[in-house]
Order: sequence, then structure tokens, then C-alpha cells
Amino acid sequence: MSAHGGGTFASAGVRRSLLALAALAVVAVLVAFFWLPRVKPDFVQGGLWDAICRAAGVPRNWSAAVPRDDAQASRVASVFTSTLAAGGDVGHGGTLALRCTMCHGARGVSSSDVPNLAGQYAEVTYKQLTDYKNGQRRHALMQGLAAGLSEQDIRDLAAFYAQLPRPSPAGPPTEVPKLVSVGDPMRNIAPCATCHGGIDKKPGSPWLDGMSQAYLAAQMQQFAEGARRNDTLGAMRNIARQMRPEEVDAVARYYATRAIIGHEGAAPEPAR
Ligand code: HEC
Ligand code: HEC
Repeated sequence: MSAHGGGTFASAGVRRSLLALAALAVVAVLVAFFWLPRVKPDFVQGGLWDAICRAAGVPRNWSAAVPRDDAQASRVASVFTSTLAAGGDVGHGGTLALRCTMCHGARGVSSSDVPNLAGQYAEVTYKQLTDYKNGQRRHALMQGLAAGLSEQDIRDLAAFYAQLPRPSPAGPPTEVPKLVSVGDPMRNIAPCATCHGGIDKKPGSPWLDGMSQAYLAAQMQQFAEGARRNDTLGAMRNIARQMRPEEVDAVARYYATRAIIGHEGAAPEPAR
């Protein structure tokens, strides 16, 4: 009798936990398929697996998501370095680049807050110019300039700038910000150096050393606010949203002081 009572009690408990588990699964499905895609329109863009992975690192201000009318992520979705490297005519690129020198410098290194192009990976220059041209990256001036470039012009410019020497590296840094070398797993921030060079180089990630501090910080801020949203799968937006202003300043200062502007000569690494 007591054994029977105990059995009923146990199976009721089991039934309760099974019900709770089922309810949890339903809630998870609702969140993943209905709520998240609504508050974050580009949520399912990268496929379900990406959606689930990104759900692991919920950005601080998710519901204040970027404007919906805006263009979705870049059309240059996956980067195809090898075909690009083969497609550019350096000579023609150099001729076209005469239109760019007044801002980006005679040899692709700018002493103002305009980004350096010298030694930039061809696939990066290609992608950014294409994104300006298609309106996926917003900047009135660069959009206007890129609109007049053909696909081949863009390849040629990318090839031309890729082979210009980068500014010389500065000495070893006194201090490497933690976010650069180890990231912050608690906030789902991968080390910058796993994509931007140092630990590893992921295709499409720009060479940052020697870019102006103001430019770098401004780009991070634009990613954080969603004003710049041409990064494939939100790779940079997801990181920048999690960063505190003083961290943005620290990493921008770090990369800006990694090279000496005015001392060009370091040969670009072979594109990967
Ligand atoms: C009048 C000044 C000006 C001229 C001329 C100009 N640019 Fe720019 N360029 C800028 C500024 C400013 C930015 C940063 C824009 C932003 O914040 O998105 C930029 C950004 C870029 C970027 C993105 C770099 C990166 O690291 O993301 C590329 C690539 C680029 N320009 C290529 C060119 C090329 C090629 C030309 C010539 C056809 C050119 N630019 C002419 C001012 C100029
Ligand atoms: C998962 C790889 C990845 C990680 C980690 C990463 N980035 Fe990026 N970053 C990218 C990619 C890819 C782009 C180019 C996005 C695009 O296509 O416009 C980019 C662009 C940028 C830009 C804009 C540069 C330019 O010239 O326009 C800055 C600044 C930047 N990242 C800084 C950082 C910093 C600082 C960190 C570490 C806190 C970091 N990134 C971590 C992949 C990464």
C-alpha cells in the first residue's frame, strides 16, 4: 500500500517535470522563431544555427535594434579572396587612384582621420567599395564616389592598394588591451586578434594597424548603434554593442599606435 502510494507520488513528479520540460521547449521555440526575428529583423538571416549561436550572447540593448527599413547586411556575403586577387589590374588601379589621393594620401596612407588603404587586403577594399556602391555602407561622399566605379574598377583599385607598402610597425606595445588578445567570453567577445591579425586573420577583416584613432572609434560606435551594418552576420555589431566607451577608446588607441604614419615601407603580408 505504502509502496503503491510512493509509486504514484514518484510518477506524478516525473509527469510534472516532463510537462515542465515540454513547456520550456515550447517557450524556446517561440522565442527563437517568433520573438527574436521580430525584435531583431536580421536574426534568422544567417540560418537557424547562426541564430541559435548568436542567441547565446544577448546584446545589451537588443530590443533597441537597428532601424528596420535599413538595407540588410552586405551583398558581398562571403569573401572569395582567391578570385579577387587574380582579378585586379594594378596599373589601371593606380590611374583610378589619382582621384582618391587628396583624401587617402598619395600612397594610400592618410595623416588625417581618413582610413589608410595602403596594404589593405584586396578583399576588404573590394567589399567596402562594393558596399558603398550598393548603399549597404552609408557615407554620402564615399557612396557618391563608389557609384561611378565599375566592378572591374573596384577590383583594380583593390589590387592597387593591396600592394602599396603599409606604414612601418611601431615597436612592441607596452600594453595590449585584454579585448584584443583574449576577448571576453562572458560577453561573447572574441579577441580582436583572431580576426584582425595577430592570432589569426579572417577574410574580410580589415588591417587596422596605423588607422586613425578617431576613425577606428567612430566605426566601432557606428557598429554599436547600427548606423553601420554592412558587416556580414553582424560580426562587428555584436561585438561593438557589448563594449564600454572606455574600451572602445583603448582598442582604437592601441591599433592607431601600432604603426608609424610617415614611415612607410613594411611589405604587406600576402593576402589570404
Ligand atoms: C573627399 C575625400 C575622399 C575621397 C576623394 C575618397 N575617399 Fe574614400 N573615404 C573617405 C572617408 C572620409 C572615408 C570613411 C568613410 C566612413 O566613415 O564610412 C573613406 C572610406 C573609404 C574606404 C573604406 C576603408 C575602410 O577601411 O573601411 C575605402 C575602401 C575607400 N574610402 C576608397 C576610396 C577610393 C578607392 C577612392 C577613390 C576612387 C576614395 N576612397 C576617394 C574620404 C574620401
Ligand atoms: C569574428 C571576427 C572579428 C572579431 C573578433 C573582431 N572583428 Fe572587427 N571586423 C571584422 C570584420 C569581418 C570587419 C569588416 C566588416 C565589414 O565587412 O564591413 C571588421 C571591421 C572592423 C572595424 C572597421 C574597420 C574599417 O576599416 O572600416 C573596426 C574598427 C574593427 N573591426 C575593430 C575591431 C575590434 C577593436 C575588435 C575587438 C574588440 C574586433 N574588431 C573584433 C571581424 C572581426
